[in-house]
Amino acid sequence: MVSKYKVQSSNIYIEKTDVPKNKLNIVDSLQIHELEKELLTEAYEIFYDELNENTIFDETYFKELHRRTFEALYDWAGVYRDYNMAKGESRFCQGLYVKSSSKKIFEELEKENYLKDYENKSKEEFAKKLAYYKCEINALHPFYELNGRITRLFFDMIALFNGYKYIDYSTVTPKEYIDAAIECVQFADSDSMETIILNGLKK
Ligand SMILES: Nc1ncnc2c1ncn2[C@@H]1O[C@H](COP(=O)(O)OP(=O)(O)O)[C@@H](O)[C@H]1O
Ligand SMILES: [Mg+2]
Repeated sequence: MVSKYKVQSSNIYIEKTDVPKNKLNIVDSLQIHELEKELLTEAYEIFYDELNENTIFDETYFKELHRRTFEALYDWAGVYRDYNMAKGESRFCQGLYVKSSSKKIFEELEKENYLKDYENKSKEEFAKKLAYYKCEINALHPFYELNGRITRLFFDMIALFNGYKYIDYSTVTPKEYIDAAIECVQFADSDSMETIILNGLKK
């Protein structure tokens, strides 16, 4: 039987490698990952400096995080994907619906004032909200690559805005983190992510 959900093979990578085609023509996996790491560190500094009372955590901001962090390397920085993607057994939002699903998530977030009012509420309430939206964006998986890092950057900025430090994910192993992401994507269940975030939220 032909599945309606067809995962298109990605053409963003240099053939038979995990290195995305890039503006600097880097072909070495270690080198590209090192550079991505440096760009992300710089991005944390830039967006930390830019954060202020008027910052709005909307879709434009989210896409700008991706674009401005990685545009020196990738043509698709800040661009939503248009084909279907899966990891392991998890199928992310269909390519065709990424734009409309994203719009829905950010409209919901707007109704909650982009989670800008949690400084004086309980950490538990904040963790629940953060986990819910983080899971929604995990399931959306809107970019071709670097979704995990940009999604964490996004919620780290929201945490910072509310007087917390960056969310500490080192309380769990990579496997525990991925298992929580799997629960998000496959079962729309954000409980494990909530526990991870609650443990990682510190003032
Ligand atoms: N099997 C899976 N099921 C659901 N989500 C997954 C799975 N594997 C990875 N993920 C999610 O995808 C993210 C990785 O996506 P990717 O675009 O490669 O970003 P990055 O390169 O920044 O890690 C992880 O952080 C996790 O949220
Ligand atoms: Mg990746």
